[in-house]
Amino acid sequence: MKNLPFSNLKLLLLGSGELGKELVIEAKRLGCYVIAVDKYENAPAMQLADEHFVLDMSDKKLLMDLINSLKPDFVIPEIESLSVEALNDLENNGIKIVPNSRTVEMTMNRDKIRDLASTELNIRTAKYRYVYDFSKLKSNASEIGFPLLLKPLMSSSGKGQNLVQKKGDLEKAWNQALENSRGDVKGVILEEYIDFNYEFTLLSVRTKEGKTLFCPPIGHEQYNGDYQCSWQPIPIEKSILEEAKKVTNIILNNLNGAGIYGVEFFVKESYLIFSELSPRPHDTGMVTLVSQNINEFELHLRAILDLPIPEINLTSPAATRVILSEDEYQKFAFYGIYEALKIKNSKILIFGKPHAKKGRRMGVALATGLDVDQAKSRADQCAKEIKICSSDIKNL
Ligand SMILES: Nc1ncnc2c1ncn2[C@@H]1O[C@H](COP(=O)(O)OP(=O)(O)O)[C@@H](O)[C@H]1O
Ligand SMILES: [Mg+2]
Repeated sequence: MKNLPFSNLKLLLLGSGELGKELVIEAKRLGCYVIAVDKYENAPAMQLADEHFVLDMSDKKLLMDLINSLKPDFVIPEIESLSVEALNDLENNGIKIVPNSRTVEMTMNRDKIRDLASTELNIRTAKYRYVYDFSKLKSNASEIGFPLLLKPLMSSSGKGQNLVQKKGDLEKAWNQALENSRGDVKGVILEEYIDFNYEFTLLSVRTKEGKTLFCPPIGHEQYNGDYQCSWQPIPIEKSILEEAKKVTNIILNNLNGAGIYGVEFFVKESYLIFSELSPRPHDTGMVTLVSQNINEFELHLRAILDLPIPEINLTSPAATRVILSEDEYQKFAFYGIYEALKIKNSKILIFGKPHAKKGRRMGVALATGLDVDQAKSRADQCAKEIKICSSDIKNL
């Protein structure tokens, strides 16, 4: 691997959202050839990649045929809804899947990674039960206790996730979860509701040699399971942070694939609870675009490509605030950018998603400050200035 000519490296990105877009930017900076795939045309990462394809990536044959015909050096998943069978077969035929196909499979549904952490590795998690059969929902819910969270086995950004207060509300939540579930497995996970003091993401980089490097922890707030704002660093008791690093090491030693991982934890009183992990750059980690010497996207690439990471450090406290669409628009424009950019040390990323839907993340405001409070306040003000409105004359 070492000393390969970089301009010859071909990366295939499965999923072309806003995180994929930033990954393409960093990959192009390193001279790679990038092919972006998603299920819809004109997705953010496609707008920058050398080539793109529109494809249902949960279809085994379609995915295998595409990858076999392109022969990429690395297949880099950016989303969860993929045919893991295809990735398994391809890996067995010598195609490099990032970080490896087992990890993609373990983290695709909530069940496998949860079982690995809790049952095999003895890591503290919220109490949980899987339910695949509606008739078993009530008895399982009683074992967990109310309130509880009912989530689809596979989903992201909190889609289909509900806080259920009592037995009578279970059926509605069950239906919503199944409507929002991705993939073939129809089931839900019931989770003990943790009334945590705070939650954080520990971005962790696994190198080819099996070393784990950590970014300063990132604090974040979620609304209905979807990320609203993040900041770095978040002050954490030394013993809790040490434990989070220890737990991460245990999991990554097991998964054992190079790349960046977003490891999510809750802290309640003085104890740490592992929540979930994604083997790719994390949405809350977009803050690293302005806060670190090497951002999470470049870290992912350096780890995958076996390039040196001499040191990860914080260059400034920073924060993000998402820019959401309040409605559905086929044609739209961003208003208020002029006012937003008057705010010191602020930056806006407009993702370039072709359509706006109610609640869809369309951009993010980033800011640095002398401390996290100042950075947060700047990112908040910046996002507040921006409004997404119809640009279709008929709707004005
Ligand atoms: N068991 C739980 N108790 C309390 N809050 C939770 C629990 N599980 C998830 N949440 C909240 O919902 C957010 C999203 O849940 P998560 O399982 O990370 O879903 P996703 O895969 O969509 O990111 C979490 O960051 C947290 O704020
Ligand atoms: Mg999460």
